[in-house]
Amino acid sequence: MSTTTVDHPLVRCHLTRLRDAATEPAEFRILVQRLATLLAYEATQDLRTAPCTVTTPLTDATGEQLDERIGLVPILRAGLGLVDPVLHLIPSAEVWHLGLYRDETTAQPVRYYEKLPESRPVDVALILDPMLATGGSAVAAIERLHRWKVPRIKLLSVLAAREGIDRVLSEFPQTQIYVCGIDPELNAQKFIVPGLGDAGDRIFNTLE
Ligand code: PRP
Repeated sequence: MSTTTVDHPLVRCHLTRLRDAATEPAEFRILVQRLATLLAYEATQDLRTAPCTVTTPLTDATGEQLDERIGLVPILRAGLGLVDPVLHLIPSAEVWHLGLYRDETTAQPVRYYEKLPESRPVDVALILDPMLATGGSAVAAIERLHRWKVPRIKLLSVLAAREGIDRVLSEFPQTQIYVCGIDPELNAQKFIVPGLGDAGDRIFNTLE
């Protein structure tokens, strides 16, 4: 059972700008990307590598190469905002999309896109979603990855509510959670408070 809050001055400063309601979508997207990079740096510390040799312009050098299949699993829509920066760090990663949205009245996750294979699970899945509120969407994603028999599941969220973390870890204690910040509560509409609003709408400029 583990939760890592990435505690770094750049994370704290970028998260502050992200929270600001005056931050426009163009900057919001860039901030999400920066924070995704910093989250992924932390979340990939334990990836397995294998020794290898390369030939430099001068001679041979020993080095390492990734020795695991990594799957990025963005939860649509907002998780798409984290894909490119993580893929930059792990260019060999596979990307498996999961479509889930939260019903506005019940706050329950609704599945609308899911196309994972039946066999050959990845070794490590990184679930990407900027927000972990009640934890319902994350639990639905983890359930699906369990059915695919993924042995190691990591959840990367920019901002979480304590309630969501507790729910994920009570249902799936083996999940490794990485966040940039944890807020104390959810409001009546199950929005994280103080939070940053609706990340999907702010990334895709669909605020009404
Ligand atoms: C948001 C967010 C998470 C979910 C978090 O998505 O990106 O997926 O809600 O809430 P939960 O922890 O209570 O399940 P939303 O439903 O707004 O969809 P979107 O990404 O399409 O905007």
